[in-house]
Amino acid sequence: MQRIAVFTSGGDAPGMNAHIRAVERTAQKRGLEVVGIVGGYTGMMAGHFEVLDRIRTANILDRGGTVLKTSRCPEFHHATGRAKAAEQLAKHGIDGVVACGGDGTFHGALALHQEHGIRIVGTPGTIDNDLAGTDYTIGYDTAINTAAQAIDKIRDTADSHGRLFFVEVMGRHAGFIAMDVGVACGAEYIAVPETMTDIEVLYQRIVSQGIDKRTVVIVGEGDESGGAMQLARRIEDAYGISSKVSILGHMQRGGAPTVRDRVLAARLGAAAVDALLEGLSGVMIGEQNNSITYVPLEQTWATRKAVPRYLLELATLLV
Ligand code: F6P
Repeated sequence: MQRIAVFTSGGDAPGMNAHIRAVERTAQKRGLEVVGIVGGYTGMMAGHFEVLDRIRTANILDRGGTVLKTSRCPEFHHATGRAKAAEQLAKHGIDGVVACGGDGTFHGALALHQEHGIRIVGTPGTIDNDLAGTDYTIGYDTAINTAAQAIDKIRDTADSHGRLFFVEVMGRHAGFIAMDVGVACGAEYIAVPETMTDIEVLYQRIVSQGIDKRTVVIVGEGDESGGAMQLARRIEDAYGISSKVSILGHMQRGGAPTVRDRVLAARLGAAAVDALLEGLSGVMIGEQNNSITYVPLEQTWATRKAVPRYLLELATLLV
């Protein structure tokens, strides 16, 4: 193996730059050339490749976003799109690829591996933390800290005015962000897709605060209620209680990565290069109980990663 490529794909996540840097540095140390693919699968199909070196990856590890850019790429769902990408990888002499992203990225990576024999490993880069086979994903720790800071601020105004707030946090299909920040910020109720939202219990929690007291309800965007707006409307319609709604949105994806995210990103980047050198392909490089794991890509989405039980219990116990 002489030349490898790295790219970021799907939703950006803080720590992706630290990851790119780690892949570049490790590859150089192992005597490999490194290429960055610009713009995820869209850039791969279009042949947007740039050579990475020490200078290009200097002073990026503390920056949010991804210097290699990213995209959602519907064309990659089709075999024709993937064939274009495989052609470009061959044209640029790429012997191995590191794909950093979430389950959509991994679906594409597995298809490239199976259909075109591309040697490719995935690294978990998503704020959602919803990939099985790794305790944490790159970006998750930063996202929960960003969300917690915002919720603390909302708590101040909720407290001062004695208002009910519904705060929606990200997490397309999973309630990890909601559960962690809900416990961390002392939410009176946490609505997540993993459990059924009980409108009567929610109402009881609100009234038990006293109608003039502050209440913060955290809603994961993937909750079956449809989100914070919908839940707030249901409470208003059923019980006549008005509220304020705050949707944190994409601010959760930005900002400088935390130390934990930088270290995870660095470790997984180095391990990914070594995994390619060992001949691995079609696997995600994760971290479980402080050890590096190699998990077949399909297992990362086929098994639903469970929100820790202790969080669910704490959320009820500490209300
Ligand atoms: O997967 C990360 C994530 O931020 C999810 O939490 C969210 O549902 C989704 O991406 C939003 O994606 P987009 O920015 O493409 O709308």
